[in-house]
Amino acid sequence: LNVAVLFGGCSDEYSVSLHSAAGVLRALDPERYTVVKIGIDPQGDWFLTSASAAEIEADQWHTASDQRLRLTLARRNFELKDETGEAVDVDVFFPVLHGRNGEDGTLQGMFELFHIPFVGCDMDASLLGMDKALSHQLARQNGIEVSPFVVFAYSEIDLKRESLKRLHLPCFVKPARGGSSIGITKINTWEELDAACACAAKHDSRILIEEAVSGEEIGCSVLETPDGLVLGAVDRIHLNSDFFDYEEKYVDTHAQVECPAQLPDFVSEQMRRLARKLWEIHHCQGLVRVDCFLTPDQRILFNEINTLPGMTATSRYPRMMGQAGISFETILDTLIEEALR
Ligand code: DAL
Ligand code: MG
Repeated sequence: LNVAVLFGGCSDEYSVSLHSAAGVLRALDPERYTVVKIGIDPQGDWFLTSASAAEIEADQWHTASDQRLRLTLARRNFELKDETGEAVDVDVFFPVLHGRNGEDGTLQGMFELFHIPFVGCDMDASLLGMDKALSHQLARQNGIEVSPFVVFAYSEIDLKRESLKRLHLPCFVKPARGGSSIGITKINTWEELDAACACAAKHDSRILIEEAVSGEEIGCSVLETPDGLVLGAVDRIHLNSDFFDYEEKYVDTHAQVECPAQLPDFVSEQMRRLARKLWEIHHCQGLVRVDCFLTPDQRILFNEINTLPGMTATSRYPRMMGQAGISFETILDTLIEEALR
């Protein structure tokens, strides 16, 4: 079976994707799959590469001998060809991409248009998951608690300034669509608003401001299998800083991820129920990781749903599933099987 692993991408999370891809490549069974490695450079060009997992991780995957690829639609079917016109055989695409142009439905929409089997959520679920405003509104309509928030186009900030002040500080200012906490600022006074919005606006034209929830971050993973959904263990983030930002996630990680989290059973159960419900209302496929807040009085508020969660061997998703008895290899086999069903 020819599995094309897509990594990199024209996204703020390009580097994170390289690490996830290395994790996935190391865990894919070479006896079962012929792996086709496709790197997408930050400009969005696709290349067939023979780089190793270590070279991909170190962002040294791209060499002069990499063949530029072209995907074309031919009679409702797709053709992937290299520069010499040679066809590249792919049975299923595995996007190991995070953020815009990979996790947000754009790529998924193209796959659907070309009738190409691919791993993970379809266009609609990906789009909803990436857009924090749509996702929050959907959750709220379904009776799931979210922190009070306001969303607006950055170009309208002057019109919104007063109405924003009904929110209670501190608040998080976020790009409405993004990931890995890139472009997010926590503000403690309204004087910090303009700088925070300018920072978020570098990543998206729409901005979401929400009240910070006092409490801890917890999460749960979901995997679709032929026998129905499997829920992973619930985890909890122990922070050493103000919030779980990019630094804490990938650069200088002091945060400890407790997995499984030692929580009262009813809290873990509620988190799992919520993860299942969020899967259902977003109409997901394949996999997701649901992130929530747990308040000191043990209420759970929805934070976000990640349709292509981080996938290094030590990432939260494989750890949560590992605690439920599902190895990284089995996760990948299951995802590929589901994509071809
Ligand atoms: N956006 C990062 C990769 C995550 O959700 O794990
Ligand atoms: Mg995210």
